[in-house]
Amino acid sequence: MKLSILPLLLLAVLGTARAADYPLDAPAPDGRRPGGTLSQTLASPTIANDENKDLKRERNYPDQPPTIPHSIRGYQIDKYGNKCLTCHSRANSAKTQATMISITHYMDRDGQPLAAVSPRRYFCDQCHVVQSDAKPLVGNSFENIDKLLQDDANAARKP
Ligand code: HEC
Ligand code: HEC
Repeated sequence: MKLSILPLLLLAVLGTARAADYPLDAPAPDGRRPGGTLSQTLASPTIANDENKDLKRERNYPDQPPTIPHSIRGYQIDKYGNKCLTCHSRANSAKTQATMISITHYMDRDGQPLAAVSPRRYFCDQCHVVQSDAKPLVGNSFENIDKLLQDDANAARKP
């Protein structure tokens, strides 16, 4: 009995020493939390609604997976079925007027075209995401290639 309690006591003492080094109510570390301290439980912000404007968005570069301009709540993608393909597959896209998935979705990783959607492109939301009206958590100074080309042209025109 005595033997088994000793390590526990030691742990308890060491534990309080550590806790003093790192006070539990330190300020929360980054801007993702709206203030407060680490030990405080704050009400979570409400989940933003998915944008559902049905307007295709500009891509920042040609290889970007286009973002999804419609809500996908409740759309199932698993081994039993793929809701996205009921609109976006080659066969169905004419009926639904949804963009047909491009040829890359029918290629294996060696670039060989397949008859059906490649397994590596089956889980659409691995790459395609909906957008919401949420404020960005971090800044972003990305400029697309058109802007860079324009800046270059403007610089060349100056005497
Ligand atoms: C009921 C039919 C339907 C279903 C189901 C559907 N989509 Fe769509 N999708 C569309 C249509 C129509 C468009 C064209 C823009 C619009 O009307 O929203 C579109 C647009 C898109 C685009 C933009 C394409 C571009 O060129 O910019 C992406 C990406 C997309 N859908 C992905 C998905 C994914 C991923 C799923 C499954 C989670 C899905 N869609 C399910 C009909 C559908
Ligand atoms: C591994 C990432 C990945 C997965 C998984 C994926 N896509 Fe894509 N998708 C892309 C990329 C990258 C592009 C843009 C370049 C291209 O066409 O390959 C694209 C383009 C598209 C486009 C626009 C095609 C065009 O010609 O403008 C549609 C629509 C689309 N995907 C729908 C889907 C659907 C539906 C699924 C699921 C069946 C899916 N994607 C799965 C990466 C992916």
